[in-house]
Amino acid sequence: MSGKVWIVGAGPGAPDLLTLRAARVIEQAEVLIWTDSLVNPQLAAMAPEGCERLRTSTLTLEEVMGVMLDRVARGQRVVRLHDGDTCLYSALHEQRCRLEEAGVEVEVVPGLSAYQATAAALQSELTVPGLVQTIVLSRAGGRTGVPEHESLAKLAALQASLCLYLSARHVEEVQAELLLHYPADTPVAIAYRVSWPDQWLTVVPLQAMTQVSAERQLIRTTLYVVSPALAPPGEARSKLYSASHDHLFRAASQAISSAS
Ligand SMILES: C[S@@+](CC[C@H](N)C(=O)[O-])C[C@H]1O[C@@H](n2cnc3c(N)ncnc32)[C@H](O)[C@@H]1O
Repeated sequence: MSGKVWIVGAGPGAPDLLTLRAARVIEQAEVLIWTDSLVNPQLAAMAPEGCERLRTSTLTLEEVMGVMLDRVARGQRVVRLHDGDTCLYSALHEQRCRLEEAGVEVEVVPGLSAYQATAAALQSELTVPGLVQTIVLSRAGGRTGVPEHESLAKLAALQASLCLYLSARHVEEVQAELLLHYPADTPVAIAYRVSWPDQWLTVVPLQAMTQVSAERQLIRTTLYVVSPALAPPGEARSKLYSASHDHLFRAASQAISSAS
């Protein structure tokens, strides 16, 4: 079979956080298959009037693939829309395997992930010099499970900025494992439906993560960001913008003279 499918990241929710490329692809769709449990319906509405729209929340992978391959065989322009970015918990891999097996070309259009939207909403850099220089994106095991060598206790040992997807249902175990390595007062952002009109966002000490999540009855569309970088801004500064640091685009002496 020839043909092509566009697999597109829709961003965290707000329609104006969609990329221009993604908007162009949606506007040209003849068939739009979209993750209605997480993608904003306003984005599905951007597809042209005659476009066939298919919601995936009640479908199996086989059912989704059946429609996808059928419409491609009919020569239609098929767009598969996922929330956030396609490289994180999106089922891109399993769909791409089946499309390539069928000889269908795939183009992937990236989207803004929930962790990026959360960091922006908090006005936070998650890599503050001298404090933390690594971001880990992961999840609690849940039904999918994670390989043993990626257990939360092992990730926590890094004391990096740790962004946890799909973890609200398991927050009690998550907090217990994180406390094995992070200090109990490490700031944790609890981010619910970031960028949607009903966004709820707070920063609490790690030891209060479970209690606050339970009080808000958070189960889904919640991201946790555990990071020493979420503490109030201090004296940290980067080498990149330091006058005494030279690099490819700026000599140290130039920087000092232009600043004076
Ligand atoms: C199936 S995963 C998809 C992640 C998505 N591909 C991304 O890059 O953001 C869904 C999980 O992402 C997180 N998530 C997605 N959108 C969110 C939002 N607007 N606010 C907070 N968390 C969100 C939640 O942890 C949710 O359970």
